[in-house]
Amino acid sequence: MDSLHLILSLLCSVFALVSGYSRTLQISSFDEGYSHLFGGNNLQVLKDGKSVHLSLDERTGSGFVSQDLYLHGFFSASIKLPADYTAGVVVAFYMSNGDTYEKNHDEIDFEFLGNIRGKEWRIQTNIYGNGSTNVGREERFGLWFDPSYDYHQYSILWTDDRIIFYVDNVAIREIKRTESMGKDFPSKPMTLYATIWDASEWATNGGKYKVNYKYAPYIAEFSDFVLHGCTVDPMELSTLKCDTTPNSNSILADLTPAERIKMESFRKKHLQYSYCYDKMRYKTPPSECLVDHEEAKQLKSFDPITFGGSRCRHRSHHGRMHRQSRSVSF
Ligand SMILES: *[C@@H]1O[C@H](CO)[C@@H](O)[C@H](O)[C@H]1NC(C)=O
Repeated sequence: MDSLHLILSLLCSVFALVSGYSRTLQISSFDEGYSHLFGGNNLQVLKDGKSVHLSLDERTGSGFVSQDLYLHGFFSASIKLPADYTAGVVVAFYMSNGDTYEKNHDEIDFEFLGNIRGKEWRIQTNIYGNGSTNVGREERFGLWFDPSYDYHQYSILWTDDRIIFYVDNVAIREIKRTESMGKDFPSKPMTLYATIWDASEWATNGGKYKVNYKYAPYIAEFSDFVLHGCTVDPMELSTLKCDTTPNSNSILADLTPAERIKMESFRKKHLQYSYCYDKMRYKTPPSECLVDHEEAKQLKSFDPITFGGSRCRHRSHHGRMHRQSRSVSF
C-alpha cells in the first residue's frame, strides 16, 4: 500500500470510529415521531416543535407514544427531570407492546423512581419478554450527575440478540440473548413511550414517601428524539421498513472494546441493584446471569441482606416487591 492509500484508509477508519461513537443520527420533531397518549394539556409541545414538557399535577400525569411500531433499532431522548422533592413521581422512557399482547407482552424500560431532596438519583432498567413478568430483570444505578439539573441522553439499542442501555453515550448495561433465556428476550414489535405518573404506592423506598402535590406541577422535559429503527406495518406484522445505509448499520454494531471497558468501569462505581445477585428473589440466578465476583462484592457491601444471602430475611417487604408486576420498589 502506498502512503497516500495508507493515509486515506486511516482517515476512513478514524471517521468511522468518530461517527459511530457520536451516533450522529437524525433528530425528529415531536410531530414527526410521536403522538399524545394521555394527560391533555399536561403535555406541552414547545414552540420549536422539538421539545416536550410532560407534567404531573393533582389531576393527572401525562405521556406520549411513538406513531410507529418498531422491531429493533436505536431509540433515544434527552430528558431533564423535575427537580427538588420528587418522591413517588415516576418518569419512564420505554418500549412496550402491552396494548397488543395483554398476556405475553415485551418491554424494555428506563425508569426514574423519584427522589428525596439531597439524595443521589437512581435510574432503573428492566426488560420483559413474552409476558415474563414473574421474572423481573431490574438493575439500578446511581448517576454521576443530577438528572434534574440539565438534559441528558438516554438510549436503548435493541437488536435480534442484544439490548444495550446508554446514558450520554456510555453503555451502562448489556443484555445478550441466551438460548436458555429464550422467549424472555423481547422479540415482538414495540412502540416507544414517555410518561410521568404518580406511583406513590411503590416508587420511592417502597411507597414510604408519597407524591407531595405542594410541589406540583412536576415537569419532565424531553428533547432530541431519535427513532432509528425498523418500522413494522401493524396490519401486516411481517413487513419491515429499515434504514440500511452502511452508516446506520454501525449503530447496531457490537460494543467496541473501549466502550466495554467504559461500561465495566461505570458499573463498578454505580451499580446499586442487580437481579442477578438478589439472593432473596432468586435462589439461583436466572440462566443468563454471568456472575462477576467484583460486582457481587460491591453489591454485598451496598446491601448485605439482599445480596449476601443473610438468614435475616424481611419476608413481608419482599413479598410486596414480588407483587409489583411492572417493577420492584426500593
Ligand atoms: C409466548 O406466549 C404465548 C402466550 O402465553 C405462547 O402461546 C407462545 O408460545 C409464547 N412464545 C414463545 C416463543 O414461547
